[in-house]
Amino acid sequence: MDKIVIEGGRPLKGKIKIGGSKNAALPLMAASLLTSDKVILTNLPKLCDVKTMDSLLEVLGVQTTLLMNRISMQAKKIKRFEAPYELVRKMRASILVLGPLVARNGKARVSLPGGCAIGARPINLHLKALEDMGAKVKLAEGYVEASCSRLKGARIVFDVVTVTGTENIMMAAALAKGQTIIENAAREPEVLDLANLLNKMGAQISGAGTAVITINGVEKLHGATHRVIADRIEAGTYMIAAAMTRGDVMIEDVETEYVAALIQKLKDIGATIETYANKVRVVGPKEILPTDIKTAPYPGFATDLQAQFMTLLTLANGTSTITETIFENRFMHVPELVRMGADLQVEGNTVIIRGVDKLQSAPVMASDLRASASLVLAGLVARGVTDIHRVYHIDRGYESVERKLRKAGARVKRAKVKY
Ligand code: EPZ
Repeated sequence: MDKIVIEGGRPLKGKIKIGGSKNAALPLMAASLLTSDKVILTNLPKLCDVKTMDSLLEVLGVQTTLLMNRISMQAKKIKRFEAPYELVRKMRASILVLGPLVARNGKARVSLPGGCAIGARPINLHLKALEDMGAKVKLAEGYVEASCSRLKGARIVFDVVTVTGTENIMMAAALAKGQTIIENAAREPEVLDLANLLNKMGAQISGAGTAVITINGVEKLHGATHRVIADRIEAGTYMIAAAMTRGDVMIEDVETEYVAALIQKLKDIGATIETYANKVRVVGPKEILPTDIKTAPYPGFATDLQAQFMTLLTLANGTSTITETIFENRFMHVPELVRMGADLQVEGNTVIIRGVDKLQSAPVMASDLRASASLVLAGLVARGVTDIHRVYHIDRGYESVERKLRKAGARVKRAKVKY
């Protein structure tokens, strides 16, 4: 197992190039199941989760060629309709093959993803929507089995906004008979990116990116080539890093509209932000001002940036609060930040953050993808050398994190852990 070793105290300077979005790439890859033609994706991030999805698609019978940041996929025939536990347990986004498999193949058997560090993360809304579209759904031996000769369009109203739920149903509806309307749909840019690919494949989808998405089912879909949108969470992570290290960084390949809520909060804490066509310059403030954050579905403040922003606020000149409204246990980074000298108090789904002058380096443990990112950020500003263990979490969502940070002036390296 590797660890990341960071010597803190150096401001980030220069440029950081953002890669393709993990949370767009995964549903885009699953969409290849919907056609027997070739689907090609470019600007694909080199991440463990992408490799896991590639392996899952191969198990299902998709011929794939994954080369650097490009993948070609062709599901001539669905050979297997089961997504096995050993792959799904590694990546809960595997549930994204459920909708496409039922739509293309008439049946699917997907291991229940189970909970993860940040919460129970049920998929009841995915399953209810498929039932509304005529699928027979049953749970057996830790798997969900869904079958239907041909799904029919339905009006789906999601009780809560669900990103992969919206994506699963949009893909299922693309080949259903008749019209599907999804209300209270997720408005995340990754949902819009998936709709753009599906429409290139011949689907008839309108309203993606808003709370109401209309899909007129078609008989079949054809192949397409598509560039994955840039990763707004990777971009946001480095924007926060620039602000908290009193740096001056140009973040390249970021849709500024997709990080609007973050830009507002960075201005509130005193950072200077310059936005251009598809890049953002972030200049960190001498003194970080306190602020209050409440996570919300897009276009609100992203839950995936909550841990990272908390690290920044541990150094604010005053008291801040962060309220997490999406997941019930997304404060795993709190005890690790406290070990580095942060003054944090958890009260239900809110953390009270009393600013301190400095964080101290300490050996810390990553627990989930974004919590590990928040610890890397802490290491960048902590006095001394910080070792972050279980860094495989970060490799799931950040391509070449130490290379990108080193290029921007950080003293960071990866090291093998002996025991
Ligand atoms: C997606 O997860 C992202 N993952 C997550 O990013 C992100 O944090 C999350 O959306 C929220 O923005 C991918 O896109 C691959 P949800 P998803 O369904 O779709 C509840 C990262 O760090 N819910 O939008 O699994 C659920 O418990 C990851 O990159 C139900 O109750 O999240 C949660 O409280 C972490 N029943 C809320 O909805 C359901 O059937 C939002 O979950 C589905 C969801």
